[in-house]
Amino acid sequence: MSEKRLFSGIQPSGPIHLGNYLGAIKQWVEYQHDWDAYFSVVDLHALVARPGVKDLRERTLDTLAMLIAIGIDPKSATLFVQSDVPAHSELAWIMNCFTSIGQLSRMTQYKEKSETQGETAGLFNYPVLQAADIALYNAEVVPVGDDQLQHLELAREIVRSLNSYAGKEILVEPKPLLNKSSRIMALNNPEKKMSKSVSGSAIGLLDSEDEVARVIKRAVTDSDPNSSTPSGALKNLFTILESVSDVQTIAKFEEMRVGGHLRYSELKEQLIDDVVAFLRPIQQTYKTLRADTGALNEIRLQGAKKAEVVASDTLQKVKSALGLN
Ligand code: TRP
Repeated sequence: MSEKRLFSGIQPSGPIHLGNYLGAIKQWVEYQHDWDAYFSVVDLHALVARPGVKDLRERTLDTLAMLIAIGIDPKSATLFVQSDVPAHSELAWIMNCFTSIGQLSRMTQYKEKSETQGETAGLFNYPVLQAADIALYNAEVVPVGDDQLQHLELAREIVRSLNSYAGKEILVEPKPLLNKSSRIMALNNPEKKMSKSVSGSAIGLLDSEDEVARVIKRAVTDSDPNSSTPSGALKNLFTILESVSDVQTIAKFEEMRVGGHLRYSELKEQLIDDVVAFLRPIQQTYKTLRADTGALNEIRLQGAKKAEVVASDTLQKVKSALGLN
């Protein structure tokens, strides 16, 4: 195992869809072999939207089980729930003291989300908790989508400010690792990102065959599939095909397109079959894991213990560097 640290987090905010998977967490599975990887289900971040007591509790376990089902191995990576490790909240408080209102006011996510979620202090301070998540593990890199780059830059600034106050390099300045895969767009609107909250937009990893078929059949196909400049909608369907189908199938459809005899109906039939076949083993593993709450809670506990060792060590160093003990 490499000693280089990597950290990323995912909110337990509902079912994971193909866009989340192909755009981001699929790569986590690869990273766990190359890095000393820490992956957290960030329930304290999800609480900001006040999702409801039962939903938050259930979705945290759902997300944990889904991460394992897609291939995160709790023996290889450290997989844990954020609120199980109290050092996150404690370092977040400390980091708040090295963050200005001006910096937080510039966050575009705050500006956007406060319109629907209300202007809570939790939403405002969200990026500070995120900075604490990363800094606790001295993570050098953080795989994120481009919507998180601003939060990452702020995390670097907070770390710099704390280090400079302490007069030594207590915390590591993290760098973003941009997801290299293409972004999956909404099936009903290739201009927008795939989103579970919009009907017809997403394929959930837990969707049934019927649901998958319905969304793919209705996917936007508003232009000639054989045009020399493929539309966004067609490109999106091909991106999905390239992720779930075998090489021969991908080559066959590419040839049809280049040869000018591609039909949307045929492409969609193939996509339905291949997406369903791709999801089947994930869904089976998920169901087994999720049904055994005892075993899942044991994985959760072990993950928290592993994370705690590193987190409390970092927190102690920060506290003593700041005169807090
Ligand atoms: N804000 C991230 C998102 O919404 C989730 C997150 C929380 C995170 N803490 C993190 C991501 C630390 C990377 C590192 O996607």
